[in-house]
Amino acid sequence: MTDISSEKTKNTEFEPTRAIRSLSEDVENSMLDAPRSLPAKYFYDERGSLLFDKICDSPEYYPTRIESALLKEVAKDVIDTSRPEYILELGSGTSRKTRHLFDACSSSQCFPVYTAVDVCDEILVESKNALEKEYGWLKVNTVSGDYTGGLGNLPKNNAKNLFVFLGGTIGNFSPKEANVFLSEIREVMTPDDLLLIGADRVKEPEILHAAYNDDEGVTAEFNLNLLEVLNRELDADFNTTKFEHYAYYNPLLSQIEMHLVSMREQKIRMKNLNKEVHFLEGDHILTEISRKFTRVELERLLIDAGFKIEKHYEAEEMKFSLILAGTD
Ligand code: SAH
Ligand code: TRP
Repeated sequence: MTDISSEKTKNTEFEPTRAIRSLSEDVENSMLDAPRSLPAKYFYDERGSLLFDKICDSPEYYPTRIESALLKEVAKDVIDTSRPEYILELGSGTSRKTRHLFDACSSSQCFPVYTAVDVCDEILVESKNALEKEYGWLKVNTVSGDYTGGLGNLPKNNAKNLFVFLGGTIGNFSPKEANVFLSEIREVMTPDDLLLIGADRVKEPEILHAAYNDDEGVTAEFNLNLLEVLNRELDADFNTTKFEHYAYYNPLLSQIEMHLVSMREQKIRMKNLNKEVHFLEGDHILTEISRKFTRVELERLLIDAGFKIEKHYEAEEMKFSLILAGTD
């Protein structure tokens, strides 16, 4: 991997509008005793972001392929409807699917500035470099920060914005969190702005199960990388061979639930916190939920957060939704 540390300063940082917990506080709050869980944002250090990108290429993980194909098909309609001066993407990652929007911009002679927002500094720098090379006209602003801390400090402009939130990431929020997050997007939008959001739909449990349990074990590696993040950041001594990736579809809540399960009784030392965590055999950490929506639920989620549905594009065979929504 190339050394990009000298380029890190390129990202603008955006400050949260409310207090957010540090990793240490999150661990103290929800890792010391059962039921244990950690916020999903900690997956995405540089290795985590690269592993996520690898998940997107796995044959079982259909959402990326389906969303990408759908976006390619509708991108021109999205751009011609929104004619954005700015495209602002939340959780942009490698921006791989967003390229369909840029292609449509090229062909529709619409040349917006792209603002990529992500918690992962390294992936922002890499994406910016790649995108500016690929699209001669494209100016990329990279903004690093945690979008769960409020959006009031995102860079503002008086122009027409297209907000973009892809990858079914809205499904990684609880119903309450999703409502808060969408309301906060709604709050920073003006009547000229639009939001393009992608979300995965309810489908056969076998297909869902396979998507989070790929044969090659990349998802397992991604999940276990969370423990490596704790080892590095908290000087902890998690041994990833003593935990197992466990993901299943819970049809009662229409969500994938992802866990790390302790394979034995063990005590983990976290030197930076001066704390020890005691796991019994079978104890688990909930690391992520990924909710799957029906068409109606999804529209209801947006409407409840103050949006008006402009267009609802759907992938038919393997259901996935892209919704273009305006302020009500
Ligand atoms: N949009 C891409 C990536 C989705 S993965 C796609 O559709 O493929 C989720 C992305 O959101 C990752 O790049 C991750 O780094 C970022 N992310 C996760 N939690 C975040 C948070 N709290 N604040 C900002 N970015 C976050
Ligand atoms: N937004 C993605 C999703 O819900 C995140 C994701 C995909 C994920 N695979 C994962 C998160 C595996 C944790 C582990 O599909």
